[in-house]
Amino acid sequence: MTPPDETGPPVISTGELTMRFGSVTALSSLDLTIGPGVTGLVGANGAGKSTLIKILLGLQTPTSGRAAVLGHDVATASHEIRRRVGYMPEHDCLPPDVNASEFVVHLARMSGLPQSAARERAADVLRQVGLDEERYRPLGGYSTGMKQRAKLAQALVHDPDLVFLDEPTNGLDPASRVDMLRLVRRIGTEFDIPVLVTSHLLGELEKVSDHVVVLDAGHLLRSSATSDFLDVTGAMLVEVLGGDAGRDRLGHALAAAGLTCHPRGPMVTVDPPPPGIDVHRVVRDLAADLGLALVRLQPDQGHLEDIFTAPGARGGERRG
Ligand SMILES: Nc1ncnc2c1ncn2[C@@H]1O[C@H](COP(=O)(O)OP(=O)(O)O)[C@@H](O)[C@H]1O
Ligand SMILES: [Mg+2]
Repeated sequence: MTPPDETGPPVISTGELTMRFGSVTALSSLDLTIGPGVTGLVGANGAGKSTLIKILLGLQTPTSGRAAVLGHDVATASHEIRRRVGYMPEHDCLPPDVNASEFVVHLARMSGLPQSAARERAADVLRQVGLDEERYRPLGGYSTGMKQRAKLAQALVHDPDLVFLDEPTNGLDPASRVDMLRLVRRIGTEFDIPVLVTSHLLGELEKVSDHVVVLDAGHLLRSSATSDFLDVTGAMLVEVLGGDAGRDRLGHALAAAGLTCHPRGPMVTVDPPPPGIDVHRVVRDLAADLGLALVRLQPDQGHLEDIFTAPGARGGERRG
């Protein structure tokens, strides 16, 4: 049940939203509803993620269909939408000769904050994104990770009601990637701002998103709670002591017992069993018979990437 005070318009909604560039269909009759929390928008390069964001901001006009953001129609209220939404664009937009502090203060001023408030807010958000000492250095000398942080700071400085983050982890090394994803999660949870965040790395957002929208060549492949994605396989993961030899002995015994299994690293995955076979029991008994100590026996959680390889997924053939 939803309490009455929480039933407002959805954060984002689209109806039959279509965008063509000449013969290319970037978005194909997209029907979407997105609520609060962190929503991951995933899809391969060219899937239409950036196009969707630009339409939602009123920066591009769709070929046909409707879209609304925070209850405002993109066709008639793009000004109001851009006032209330923070936007971290995919590509670099940073003037090389000014420092991060000047840049973020300037954008805060453009959003209507008075000088002193703009300075205060800029210092705040720069600290929150982890640009403290460096904020007086010219942006031109920044590393990719620092540039992404500066871009994120300017998206937050005017205290938005919603943020769009387009590929915020692009170009980052693994450690900075983890930091950036942690920041994205904090925006959604600690600051309580709804977030739409994109990535072409299909599995990357499963840990930070409450909800995932999957686009494939302009089509909506799926939109659901992240937990629904991660709980669909019905397979089990098994690990025993004894290294690869132990793993393989168990694997052969499981196969002989009528189960389909595959090695995965030090573990064995067991496909959903035929009717009448209790995997827990079979694994426990075989491990005991073989004298193998059981380390792990747990459901094999699915991953976001699986949706692209599942039967019927349109994007399966393009993966890799
Ligand atoms: N301004 C444009 N002119 C022509 N084609 C475009 C333009 N913007 C995007 N496209 C095309 O639309 C499709 C979707 O692009 P885009 O939204 O950038 O995808 P993504 O952000 O998911 O990588 C691609 O085929 C791209 O080449
Ligand atoms: Mg893009």
